Amino acid sequence: MHIDIISVLPELLTSPFEHSIMKRAQDKGLLTVAVHHLRKWAVNEYGQVDDYQYGGGAGMVMMCEPLVNAITELSASRKFDEIIYVTPDGKTLNQRMTNALSLKENLLIICGHYKGIDERIRQKYVTLELSIGDYVLSGGELAAAVLVDAIGRLLPGVLNDETSALTDSFQDNLLAPPVYTRPVDFEGMQVPDVLMSGNHAKIEEWRYEKALQRTKDRRPDLLAD
Ligand code: ADE
Repeated sequence: MHIDIISVLPELLTSPFEHSIMKRAQDKGLLTVAVHHLRKWAVNEYGQVDDYQYGGGAGMVMMCEPLVNAITELSASRKFDEIIYVTPDGKTLNQRMTNALSLKENLLIICGHYKGIDERIRQKYVTLELSIGDYVLSGGELAAAVLVDAIGRLLPGVLNDETSALTDSFQDNLLAPPVYTRPVDFEGMQVPDVLMSGNHAKIEEWRYEKALQRTKDRRPDLLAD
């Protein structure tokens, strides 16, 4: 999979992809991420990419022209399956959506800043608007990093243990069951016997029950889905 990201703060998008699973995905050639500075397509020598909003009010709006030029240039090299704008008024991202996006070949993510991007870009070019939750971030970069991480780890071959993404929280609409490691006794609290029984059928049954109970207690909405 290839992901292009357009941003006015590309510095925010280096470290998230340089470590751990995202690094492994790229080292294995399963994922490439290219971050593009929107100022490359600025309308003047001062690097302008935003302007005052019509109708007045505080906050700048990201202009059409730099975004269209960026989208057009990047689209010349590849056909994007989705042009995603990360925005608090988009559809709230969930595991079902990240699963679907992980099957795509080429994604373009646009990070908004200030008051966001001109509405006409959203209407004409953006194919998917995604929010990572009901709160407002200072810009779209951290949302884009979350999105790329959530998608990238699902690409076949990225995780060492192929089954581990399947047992994540939210796959099958269940939260993950509790996990334990050494020591067996921690401040008087014991690891459940079943996990040390070596009986894999019993262990799976226990995990399923705990996952179900945890989901009922914490996220009953997932079971209603
Ligand atoms: N940009 C600012 N806040 C955001 C959010 N919650 N989700 C996606 N993009 C955003």
